[in-house]
Amino acid sequence: TVRRVPLIAGNWKMNLDHLQAIAFVQKLAWTLKDASHDFSAVEVAVFPPFTDLRSVQTLVAADKLPIAFGGQDVSEHESGAYTGEISAAFLEALESRYVIIGHSERRTLHGETDEQVAAKVTAALKHNIAPIICVGETAEDLETHGASAVPVAQLRAALAGVDSAADVVVAYEPVWAIGSGQAATPEQAEQVCAALRGVVAEVLGDDVAAKTRILYGGSVKSGNIAGFMREPNVDGALVGGASLDVNEFAAIVRYQK
Ligand code: G3P
Repeated sequence: TVRRVPLIAGNWKMNLDHLQAIAFVQKLAWTLKDASHDFSAVEVAVFPPFTDLRSVQTLVAADKLPIAFGGQDVSEHESGAYTGEISAAFLEALESRYVIIGHSERRTLHGETDEQVAAKVTAALKHNIAPIICVGETAEDLETHGASAVPVAQLRAALAGVDSAADVVVAYEPVWAIGSGQAATPEQAEQVCAALRGVVAEVLGDDVAAKTRILYGGSVKSGNIAGFMREPNVDGALVGGASLDVNEFAAIVRYQK
């Protein structure tokens, strides 16, 4: 069996400016090093606003910090007349290892479609950035279709242009659990994450499915992370609110199985 290195990712959303970002990443690295965190056993990544990325990159490179980072979104276009957009090439130039794509806030507030999500995934992969593909059902979807149907369809659509050599990460974020304080149960997360691994297997093959990391997101905190990480198909977490406090985020990273 393939060992998947768990990934704990902090999605800062529209919080922390570039000066706060520098202070945060420095403190996070020190806190984890002080606690002798094994970064090869649990990978850590932060997703600051675009205006912070250059500062974070400079700090991480200068101090050789074992913390990955990336954007919260990316343009599906290569370059040109797209006012306000950020290209995958720009993120690659800033050494972003990952990029979040298709977050429910992008889908809901900015009308992002499955087709756009798929195009963004292709754009990221073309520039050697691993997409963290976000999928999840609303409370209404849950009631009408059950938990898995919508996330499964969203993932199938997002993987449409992906070939089997690609490195992708999937994040299952039930919309009803995001920022609500009401997390899914570990059993609910496991059920959907297992179904999502099935989709990866169906589209990209069993070998890729076995090594693809599938994260849970939605009201993850230091107090509930261990339960999720005990599930066989949950390989990490995408954390929003609780990723904005260094000590809380460090405690999530240092979860005990
Ligand atoms: O992308 C992570 C996010 O949507 C979850 O947010 O605040 O519920 O951890 P939160």
